[in-house]
Amino acid sequence: MAIEPISEYPQLNPERIPEHVAIIMDGNGRWAKQQGHMRIFGHKHGVNAVRNSVEFAAEIGVRYLTLYAFSTENWNRPPLEINALMQLLVDTIEKELPNLMKNNIRLKTIGNRSQLPKRCQRQLEETEKATENNTRTTLILALSYSGRWDIIEAVKKISSDVQTGGIKVDDINEDTLNNALNTAAYPNPDLLIRTSGEMRISNFLLWEIAYSEIHFTRVLWPDFRKEHFLEAVLDYQKRERRFGKTSDQIEPVQKGANTA
Ligand code: IPE
Ligand code: IPE
Ligand code: MG
Repeated sequence: MAIEPISEYPQLNPERIPEHVAIIMDGNGRWAKQQGHMRIFGHKHGVNAVRNSVEFAAEIGVRYLTLYAFSTENWNRPPLEINALMQLLVDTIEKELPNLMKNNIRLKTIGNRSQLPKRCQRQLEETEKATENNTRTTLILALSYSGRWDIIEAVKKISSDVQTGGIKVDDINEDTLNNALNTAAYPNPDLLIRTSGEMRISNFLLWEIAYSEIHFTRVLWPDFRKEHFLEAVLDYQKRERRFGKTSDQIEPVQKGANTA
């Protein structure tokens, strides 16, 4: 049975909505500098882009949205900027709770939460608890996160399972690693977006993006709106995902979308 078109966005193919979208939100500092302001001014305006993206994802039926908000390497920024970012995080999740509830969004995080200030940890716990039964879209914030950090933590867990006899070395496979990562509960991203024109991964979801489609845009994060997200999803819908196969082996649904 054909899936109904999405009324607000008739140009989208409802059968090829990415299940999981991950975004590297970049360009806040440059955006602020362009207007003669401090970097934190850009971060504050980035919150509007976050709200827009979360709403859009929920509207079109994206099940998982992962936002790279603070990397392991971002701890090397000036303390003043780090403190301001942490405060912004607490304020934003507190203020956005009614919106998360209204849009039926569940909040989760990946990353080394124990490194965050206590007040951030408490706010995250509260908001996760309050939204745990929401079912439309899962919003996953990557905080004090990096792909290499997560892989190292996973290797430690698996090694200790080997040591205690819980698993044999020969039985280690892709699932073993998948299950040991912070992202164990989520599918791999179908689409990865990076704003601000930088074309690099910056230690994000290294294992999980093995077969993600990547969309780069020059738009700076505080300017990112639903129209830009739509453009990224339309770009994604034109791609043929082959996963190593030949074009002739690909499902007709995807081929149909491809020639549209
Ligand atoms: C992204 O914007 C936000 C974070 C990394 C926290 P930046 O702060 O990296 O902005 P640019 O790249 O310096 O413009
Ligand atoms: C990546 O942006 C991290 C986040 C978006 C949180 P950065 O601005 O830190 O990346 P680099 O340092 O330019 O690669
Ligand atoms: Mg940056």
